[in-house]
Amino acid sequence: MGQVTLEPLIVPDRLRMETTVERAWTEPANRLRPRILLPAAFAAPTPILPGEHRVFMVFNRKGGAGKTTTALELACAWAAMGYSVRILDCDPQDAGLSGWLEPVYPKGLAEENRKSLLHVLYGKAGLDDATYYTRYRNIYLVPSFEDCAVAEYDPRITGERILRSAIKHSEAPVDITIVDCPPKVGKLSTFTLAIGGKVIVPSQVSALDAKSNKSLREVISKAQDDYDVEVAAAVLTAWDLTNIAKDVGNEMAEHYPNALVCPVRATVQARTAPSVNKSIREYARRSTTTRDFDQVGRMLIAPREEAA
Ligand SMILES: Nc1ncnc2c1ncn2[C@@H]1O[C@H](COP(=O)(O)OP(=O)(O)OP(=O)(O)O)[C@@H](O)[C@H]1O
Ligand SMILES: [Mg+2]
Repeated sequence: MGQVTLEPLIVPDRLRMETTVERAWTEPANRLRPRILLPAAFAAPTPILPGEHRVFMVFNRKGGAGKTTTALELACAWAAMGYSVRILDCDPQDAGLSGWLEPVYPKGLAEENRKSLLHVLYGKAGLDDATYYTRYRNIYLVPSFEDCAVAEYDPRITGERILRSAIKHSEAPVDITIVDCPPKVGKLSTFTLAIGGKVIVPSQVSALDAKSNKSLREVISKAQDDYDVEVAAAVLTAWDLTNIAKDVGNEMAEHYPNALVCPVRATVQARTAPSVNKSIREYARRSTTTRDFDQVGRMLIAPREEAA
């Protein structure tokens, strides 16, 4: 199978975003610079050690916040660092990840024998049986399709720790699991938050997204009480030089004091990449969106060669 190998990006320091421990953008919108706001207690990222496994849930209850884009581009950034990454597509809509990053099924595997997240939820397959190659080396996908929407109302699918347990029992030697969450609050989103671990909150920089961020905080705060989750980063998707971008970023910094707040600049290429079934990183390697996601990836996990 011809797979694309994602290579590290060579980005001169002057083209990387600045980082700052200030927790607010104070300059006028037309003089804003994309800067990553660090939390006061920022700990430098560490590499993943052999045998270690990290989980990131990309969560926002708002549709179109940039969850799927963030999940895929961080997977690409980490695969380019040499890590193996499995993405769980937990969103049944056909405009989701499995329609963008299609699973590559083994040759000769009959359609009726293909597994998806739904089989895992019904207990008819383990997570590893539903894990497939993708066009990218070191990125694997557990797909989900429209039929997975049944999970919301089928009483046979139960037990909020179902995905947590599926991950625990997996023997696949992946370094990182990324969960692309659905926009709806329901059973599937509860299953994902109950995995526990680090949450990444993407948000578009728009007035409507800003409005929905209050109820998002309530959902996350409840999950923090019930499960062991912490918000590691807020990703401002399609960031631009506007007052609303500044306001959404400042609000994220205030409400998630222990999270990185990371702008990811808007580009036309980022918007176009899904239409050709390529990641932004492959489609527009030099775009600011690619560079910004690469930097966010490096702020969360250090490359392995730095372990020495
Ligand atoms: N940096 C960017 N520049 C331009 N467009 C972007 C950028 N990031 C994301 N987008 C666009 O924003 C839209 C929503 O993104 P995405 O599908 O990732 O959101 P989502 O939260 O997964 O949506 P849903 O709730 O439907 O699952 C897409 O059209 C995507 O191409
Ligand atoms: Mg999505």
